Amino acid sequence: MLRSVVLGVGSSLPRRVMKNADFEGVVETSDEWIVQRTGIRQRHIAAADETTASLGEAAARAALAACGLQPADIDLIVLATSTPNNTFPATAVDIQNRLGMHHGFAFDMQAVCSGFVYAMTTADLYLRGAMAKRALVIGSETFSRILDWTDRSTCVLFGDGAGAVVLEAQQGTGTLVDRGILASSLRSDGAHKDKLFVDGGPSTTGTVGHLRMEGREVFKHAVAMITDVIEATAGAAGISIDQLDWFVPHQANRRIIEASAKKLGIPDEKVVLTVDRHGNTSAASVPLALSEAVADGRIKRGDLVLLEAMGGGFTWGAVLIRW
Ligand code: ACO
Repeated sequence: MLRSVVLGVGSSLPRRVMKNADFEGVVETSDEWIVQRTGIRQRHIAAADETTASLGEAAARAALAACGLQPADIDLIVLATSTPNNTFPATAVDIQNRLGMHHGFAFDMQAVCSGFVYAMTTADLYLRGAMAKRALVIGSETFSRILDWTDRSTCVLFGDGAGAVVLEAQQGTGTLVDRGILASSLRSDGAHKDKLFVDGGPSTTGTVGHLRMEGREVFKHAVAMITDVIEATAGAAGISIDQLDWFVPHQANRRIIEASAKKLGIPDEKVVLTVDRHGNTSAASVPLALSEAVADGRIKRGDLVLLEAMGGGFTWGAVLIRW
């Protein structure tokens, strides 16, 4: 059977770093409050010339360079984002054009913080369905553009950035020894749509709007939803959680990550954490974390890697990969 194998990973972060101390004078908060409640110490914030498309392009180029491929080798781009450059066309086609690609097909996926997990699962289905041979799966966000910078309960949590992977359809044996995506599970429940949302849009206000969140409500559901979908994914693949080599969670909040890992019995040394330096970059957080752990040599060929995310909608999901 065909498997979607990861060939390369890359990332891109805006030049400007905003530390917690930089919020002093912006909103009433403190480094101590932010670190204690979230684990975040700094985040990157995009300048006017840095957009979801430009960051996504840079991450895509880095992922291609990591595996020695060219844009011409790619025939599918799936971009996960909730902060597109324009309402339409899809920012994915902008990135396609920036890469000089005029073949294949490209589209955006919108599942907020779960976007990358949704995009990996979608690209996997296209590759295994033989509709494409090699895909760029990108998570790119500029959440700083939709934050209410007077709301201390949200503006301290998010950051900007992008990450990308190159997937290739390769023949596998259909067993757990195969490299590539071994299993994935996606979930959503719109009953929670008002707990984390943007209060604007083309069809309602005609404006872009600002992010609104009931943080305590999100927190309350997060650990149960995350652990449930991870157990379902591991179960579908026929592996036990202790066989995992690496846990690469969505980087929303250190307390959510630690509580999820603890409930699943995953030891701290297997957890990839970047939330301290990136904040919550929504759909970019998982590929940014992946990129770091691959670049520094932690994630190696043959490792079992579990990606997980949960976000607005609510949406949530997990992807199990043999690296
Ligand atoms: N600085 C100082 N005080 C603050 C700040 C701030 N930046 N923000 C809120 N407070 C205050 C509140 O006003 C409140 O004050 P009050 O008691 O006088 O009313 C107090 O701190 C406690 O507020 P809570 O909202 O109860 O704080 P909590 O401990 O729940 O932490 C947080 C808030 C960090 C948002 C937490 O609820 C959380 O992490 N939730 C998950 C949300 C999340 O991560 N969302 C990301 C997207 S979804 C996802 O990706 C999983």
